[in-house]
Amino acid sequence: MPLIAVLPGDGIGPEVTEQARRVLDTLNLELTYEEAPVGGAAYYSDGHPLPERTLDVARRADALLFGAVGDPRCDALERQFRPEQAILGLRKELELFANLRPARLFPGLEDASALKPEVAGAIDMVIVRELNGDVYFGEKGFRKTAAGRREGYDVMSYDEDEVARIARVGFETAKVRSGKLCSVDKANVLETSQLWRDVVIEVSAEFPEVELTHMYVDNAAMQLVRNPGQFDVIVTGNLFGDILSDQASMCAGSIGMLPSAALNGSGKGLYEPIHGSAPDIAGQGKANPCATILSAAMLLRHSLGIEEAADRIEAAVTAALVSGARTPDLGGTLTTSEMGDAVLKALG
Ligand code: NAI
Ligand code: MG
Repeated sequence: MPLIAVLPGDGIGPEVTEQARRVLDTLNLELTYEEAPVGGAAYYSDGHPLPERTLDVARRADALLFGAVGDPRCDALERQFRPEQAILGLRKELELFANLRPARLFPGLEDASALKPEVAGAIDMVIVRELNGDVYFGEKGFRKTAAGRREGYDVMSYDEDEVARIARVGFETAKVRSGKLCSVDKANVLETSQLWRDVVIEVSAEFPEVELTHMYVDNAAMQLVRNPGQFDVIVTGNLFGDILSDQASMCAGSIGMLPSAALNGSGKGLYEPIHGSAPDIAGQGKANPCATILSAAMLLRHSLGIEEAADRIEAAVTAALVSGARTPDLGGTLTTSEMGDAVLKALG
């Protein structure tokens, strides 16, 4: 029986993960679950944000359902003990280099989008974000300049194999969608981006059926708001993908709506909402659980191949929204668990 590691984490993580679990449980699938602490919660229970027992479950699991990590009480800790190191550590440890972030406007959410309805309605895209490299994983530190000033630095780098493997995921994703791939970089000023662009062009020879275009990230940010319908699949690096996907979420109504999958090509994956632990609303029942529920659907589809159940979950979220069920981020008044109730009701 497939094993799902459930890692609720901090802040609203446990609240939204609980609703995704209710949805999975209702489907009566032949799955086993093992829960483990991660992030600030794990720091306080086990002394480390990614304890060995959590890594052990993560390694044994067929797929991971992750809530969010981040706890303001940990802000003063040394970096290695900060909650965010847990998600970076899992991505690295499991070599989850490919992050799929679908952004689409669900029916009925036109008025929740930050864009005009006629512009927002066109958003239906996937951001393929590289997840194991870039400035997040390069050498970093603090030093004194020659003039004695404090200086912080983070090295941005990619090697050609890292770019080639994420480019292939981008092309494969585009192939089964519109056949259009837009690679986003900053090749006009960054060497990392020049290599990125060269390698993406080389890999494109393997995918003659996909039309490749390139865009600078600053322009992409602007175009995403001006006319999101022009994009189908974007492939980009870790930093640019992080920022563009948060931006895309507001075009699609709310950050509480966007799920994600982090994959390593083996079938195993980590599934999580794109949002963080939202300390500002934690414990208040205000969090939108849809992004996590939709992440559970992605888990069933990408890691377990249970398409039918994934479709049912996505249809139930759609039906709940169409019936008017909304949390505060979408302009409604439902609590996190009431939103879960609405999805369960739609599941039938
Ligand atoms: P955030 O995504 O947690 O929150 C940004 C804003 O969106 C907040 O106003 C929050 O209330 C709102 N929001 C987020 N999710 C929501 C939901 N499901 N329903 C309704 N509203 C929602 O980002 P922020 O505030 O920058 O970071 C908070 C903590 O989360 C930090 O410690 C950060 O490092 C961490 N973080 C963790 C991530 C992860 O676990 N993968 C990803 C992003 C941030
Ligand atoms: Mg982010």
